[in-house]
Amino acid sequence: MDRFIRIALAKGRIASQSKHLFEKIGMDCSQLGTGSRKLIVADMNNRVEFILVKANDVTKYVEQGAVDMGVVGKDTLLEQQPDLFEVLDLGIGRCRMVVAGKSGYMDGGNDAVKVVATKYPVTAQRYFREKGENIRVVKLDGSVELAPLVGLSHVIVDLVETGRTLRDNGLVILEEICPISARLVVNKVSLKMENERITGVLKALREVLRKAG
Ligand code: PRP
Repeated sequence: MDRFIRIALAKGRIASQSKHLFEKIGMDCSQLGTGSRKLIVADMNNRVEFILVKANDVTKYVEQGAVDMGVVGKDTLLEQQPDLFEVLDLGIGRCRMVVAGKSGYMDGGNDAVKVVATKYPVTAQRYFREKGENIRVVKLDGSVELAPLVGLSHVIVDLVETGRTLRDNGLVILEEICPISARLVVNKVSLKMENERITGVLKALREVLRKAG
């Protein structure tokens, strides 16, 4: 009998949206994240197990081979540069990585080095380095929009989806870094060992995405 293929979903928006995609290709992950606190659910017919993990942890499970595949935001992949295959843009969890700050914020001023608050220190450093700008990063874990309001930083590097959080805090987009969406990722060894089943999942998902336009 086939072994179970494991798929890790990043908790939150990505998990709830990607669940629908997997349901559309005939998998049953309906019990995931609904009422129960169970972190792993099995689809016995398809011999697939779904697990729910924090967005920042998905790549660890996939890289180490504890799971075969994962669904994770491109923001996380850019930040972590994990050793795995990124095989498909699922087109969900769409948002943008931007530099934002107080409206009217101008570069320069009296401070020689721009201070950037972010959950994405690697991405922020890379972006400003490529522009030839020296910055100091303050790494935060959330509510990054607060930092320029209280003088912890000049600007932020963060995700914008609807723009509401920026607007409600009097901040504006200063520079666009890149578009972001959820990606399907695969463990390198799994792609060889379970090639047929994994490419089957991949093909089915591509077909669903194509039909959805
Ligand atoms: C994300 C992001 C922004 C906000 C953007 O934060 O970091 O703060 O959503 O969404 P919007 O443009 O639709 O307002 P999240 O909700 O993950 O919370 P966090 O600040 O605790 O990371």
